[in-house]
This record gives sequence, structure tokens and C-alpha cells, in this order.
Amino acid sequence: MHSDRINNIGESQTAKIAAIAIQMKRDKVDVVDLTVGEPDFPTPLNIKKAAIEAINKDLTRYTLIPGTIELRQAIINKLKKDNDLEYDLDNIIVSSGAKQSIFNVVLTVVGKDDEVIIPAPYWVSYPEIVSIAEGKSVIISTEEKHGFKLTTRQLQDNITAKTRAIILCNPSNPTGAVYSKSELEALAEVLENENIIVISDEIYEKLIYDNTEFCSFASVSPIMKNKTVVINGLSKAYAMTGWRIGYAAGEKGIIKRASKLQGHCTTNAPSISQYASIEALEGPQDEIENMHQEFEKRRDFVYSKLWEMDGVSCTKPQGAFYVFPNISTYLNKSYNGSTIRNSYDLAHYLLEEARVILIPGAAFGSDNHIRISYTTSMERLGEGMNRIESALKKLNTTSK
Ligand SMILES: Cc1ncc(COP(=O)(O)O)c(C=O)c1O
Repeated sequence: MHSDRINNIGESQTAKIAAIAIQMKRDKVDVVDLTVGEPDFPTPLNIKKAAIEAINKDLTRYTLIPGTIELRQAIINKLKKDNDLEYDLDNIIVSSGAKQSIFNVVLTVVGKDDEVIIPAPYWVSYPEIVSIAEGKSVIISTEEKHGFKLTTRQLQDNITAKTRAIILCNPSNPTGAVYSKSELEALAEVLENENIIVISDEIYEKLIYDNTEFCSFASVSPIMKNKTVVINGLSKAYAMTGWRIGYAAGEKGIIKRASKLQGHCTTNAPSISQYASIEALEGPQDEIENMHQEFEKRRDFVYSKLWEMDGVSCTKPQGAFYVFPNISTYLNKSYNGSTIRNSYDLAHYLLEEARVILIPGAAFGSDNHIRISYTTSMERLGEGMNRIESALKKLNTTSK
């Protein structure tokens, strides 16, 4: 009746907590939501105007499957300007969100039982997409002392004859880790002689702090450029999550096959969003910079608040809009007669006791952590952090 392919996909493990939070909000309980994976700012006006203009000009039909020539050219210009990468139109495919871009590329390069290396903590969808492709995820736990980054040793030790791809999230959701150029060069040295495709998810590229310099994996060397498919999109940087525009840039054979797949799936990304995206990429960037600065302020605030809390430690995230504190000292504490056994239990406790919703680290492959998203106002963040602090204090005093 139902296929194994779908039955084998994991249910969203966070859905239960989200359902409780939704019910609490319905019951008018004042919940602070720190789960949201999208900017809380509106899409900039110039981008919205470009979409309205596209509608008025009747640019509302199917486009070429990999995207309009104008948008692909704007993406080529962006990749040249920001990342010093040179591509042709045939190297680019635009999709309905970066999630579809990753889906297309994984299904294009990964066959049955092929292994895909995924450093943990990872973005929740990677292992599920690999499983849909009938591949095998090889999860490598990165260490906090290495800034949650994959080491060359770990990479070397996990490559086998079946390794087909590695999915690297840089900057990372959920840890905010950003790989430096030299760290990428060291990983590239391991990969250069291997028949392995790097799927480099760079969707948070524009959200990077402390004047850290971003380096795209594809720009590390000409050999790696040929082996890397860059994934990027408009959702996070331009506050355009609902517009559904992402793209992949890579070797022509891969892009051609990804287009074939997309042609039988969604055809093209929404035409109106494609026209708006040209304005996003080529129009004024000051609003993007304003959002970026606001995110950096929030990150600093949440990060310093966390360090003020007893028993909480935190690696400073350098990108994206998440912090990933270590809460392991609170595991095995008890409240109301029940024990907090894992990060799910702690998230439940914080929801019930503090009315704060956040995502347990186990959902990302790391049970000693929780993910806090700072895509909400300073005022709500302040409220949320105070609530977390008092709820954790309570655990300290009520537990042995
Ligand atoms: C790491 C990562 N990659 C890809 C995506 C997908 O983005 P899009 O909205 O463009 O599909 C997300 C969204 O949460 C993400 O966090």
C-alpha cells in the first residue's frame, strides 16, 4: 500500500514539540518561539516591486527548466563577484528553493547503496534526502573542540570505495560554524584524488559575522571546482523563504541531469520569483546589510546570555542565525519526578516550565545540545533567555 521509500523517511522528530507549541499558542499561552529557520524581516521593497512588475508584464508562464537566462546570468555574475568562480549558463540550475537544489543533485549523483559523508551536527533534511536516493549516510560526529568542523583525519578515515559524495554545510545550520579557506584547502587535499562529489551548501553565506571571510569550497582549486556543486539561494540572505528560489552551480553533466529530473518534477522555479530574484541579486544591497547587522547584534546578545547561565557552554557561532549551546550538565536531572534523559526531554521541560520552544540537538545528530534560533526581536529574545535561565536554575535547585 505504501512504498518503503516513503516509509523509510524519518518523521520530523521535532513535530511533536511544535504541535504542543501550536496548541499552546492557540490556547493564548505566551510562548517564545526560538525555532524559526527564516528571517523575521519582510522581503525588501525593491524585490517586491520587481515581482509586481513581472506580473504586470505577464511574465507568468513556464520558463526554461533550469531557469531564465537573465536570472542564471545574474547568478553567474554573483558567483564571479563574491566567490571568484567562473561559470557558463549550462553550469547553473535554478530550483524551487535550495532544498530542491540539494534534492536534485543528490538524486543525480547518488545511486543505490552509495555512501554519502555527512558531518554532524547536520541539517535535518540531508540524511532523509540521501535515504530517498537509496544511498547510505555516513554520519561523522564533529567535535566541539574543533569548532564543530570536520577534520581531515575524520574525512580520510571515513572514505571507502563506496563513497560517492559529501554534504558540507558552510556556514552551518545548526552550529553556525564557518570553515576558513585553509581548513577547506586541507579537506580538498584529501578529496582531490577521490571520485567524490562535494555538495557544498552555502545558503547562509551572507550571514557571517566578526568580519570572517567566506570561502566557497569550489573556489579552493580548479580540481575542486569540477568536483563541487555549490548550493545557494535567496531564502535566507534576502528574506525570501516563501518565494522558493535556490540554485546549484556545478559541472555541466551533473547540472544537465539535475535539469532532466526537475523537468519531470516541478519544471521551473516560479517565474515571478525568478524575475524578483534578478532584482535581489543585482539591486541595492543595503537592506541585506541592515538585516545582517541586526542578526550579528542578536547573536552577540544570545551568546553572552548563554554564558551567564550556570552549566551552559557555547561555541561562538560565526554564521547563520542559530546558536547551539551545550546543555549536557542538565541531562539526568529530574523535575516533578521525571528525569531529563535527553535533549528532547529538556526541550519539553523548557516548553512546559519556561514556555520557550526550541529544537533539541538530537534532531541534528547531537544530543548534548539545543538549537536556539535568533530570528525574533531583541525584546522576545531577552524574554526567552530570561525564561530559560530561570527554568534551568530551578533544575539546579530541585535536582540532586
Ligand atoms: C542548511 C540549509 N540548507 C538548505 C535550506 C533550504 O532553503 P530553501 O528555503 O532555499 O529551500 C535550509 C533551510 O532551512 C537550510 O537551513
